[in-house]
Amino acid sequence: MPALLNRIFGRMFVPAHPVAGPVPFGSRYVLSADRLAIESGPLAGTALRVERSISDTKADFAFYEIADGSAPVANRQSPITPDPVAHCHFDRDPETGTETLWGVFIRSEFRHRRLTTPLIRLTFRELLASGRRHWFAIRKLMQVDSEAGRRDAQSPGNPKPEIQSPLSPRITLRNLGIGLVALRLGFRPEPDIDSMLSPGNVKAVQALLPDPPDPPGLLLRLATQPGLLVAAFLDPDTGMPLADAEAYERFVSPRQLLRQTFNGQAIIGNVDYILPRTALAGFAARLANDHAELKRFTAALRRGARN
Ligand SMILES: CC(C)(COP(=O)(O)OP(=O)(O)OC[C@H]1O[C@@H](n2cnc3c(N)ncnc32)[C@H](O)[C@@H]1OP(=O)(O)O)[C@@H](O)C(=O)NCCC(=O)NCCS
Repeated sequence: MPALLNRIFGRMFVPAHPVAGPVPFGSRYVLSADRLAIESGPLAGTALRVERSISDTKADFAFYEIADGSAPVANRQSPITPDPVAHCHFDRDPETGTETLWGVFIRSEFRHRRLTTPLIRLTFRELLASGRRHWFAIRKLMQVDSEAGRRDAQSPGNPKPEIQSPLSPRITLRNLGIGLVALRLGFRPEPDIDSMLSPGNVKAVQALLPDPPDPPGLLLRLATQPGLLVAAFLDPDTGMPLADAEAYERFVSPRQLLRQTFNGQAIIGNVDYILPRTALAGFAARLANDHAELKRFTAALRRGARN
């Protein structure tokens, strides 16, 4: 039982104080030069080629299928294609050491197979190992299709969510995986979220129906940029998205959503995320493989820490 509780809470909460050692995070993998071998999860047995291009101001990472046939992509029937399986990008600020992640993408047939965590962990690790001072941010966590939102969000000023009519064009809560990974690493929404979710700025709220494997969620229409937000509540015991669509029909207020987000009990997408200084220890522990790395990563983050 203590092991189970540890696993659940280890995923959810990022301690403010130094942690004793590295914390396992996501599917296990081994990286050797440009070869990534995934050892657990739905892609266990898959080998991918890693390509990286890192300059002072930018970094790009991509995973590709390997065509030599020595380690085929697990459970996959279709032929190998030259398109990347996954990629992500960073803007790097050499002055402050801040690495801003954007454009995380996983090709559709590799989605929902737990590849996001290895991608993010690997890229954060490589950047952290590359200098003396680092801090991290994420631009536009969980992007939202604004056209779809314009068609569907309804009822200006009504704090109670409209339920999506079966006749209306379907919007679902996609891209939640990156939000869960970010939250587990300790990222939280940028401070502007406070004014975005102020009562006068939320024009409409809509409950999004589940569309397996996508869970139910909320769509909020704002008077100001970015115009639309999506959100999901997390089960406080497991850290997993709530499967209960009725929870969204009982939704009380944007301020409640704000509180839950800062407590790690909800994810809001379509906004920028920052790493609070209090997340430093838990963040480093989830990236480090051993105690020596944990020490180095913690020192590099302490030097770069902001807010
Ligand atoms: C965002 C995107 C990369 C997520 O990829 P994905 O394959 O759905 O996510 P994963 O399967 O890797 O899930 C990531 C984590 O969330 C968890 N997760 C995802 N959906 C979940 C759900 N419905 N319930 C419980 N856990 C869930 C996974 O278990 C995994 O955690 P773990 O590895 O620790 O177990 C992908 O949807 C995408 O490429 N979207 C289009 C581009 C985009 O909009 N990117 C966002 C801009 S930053």
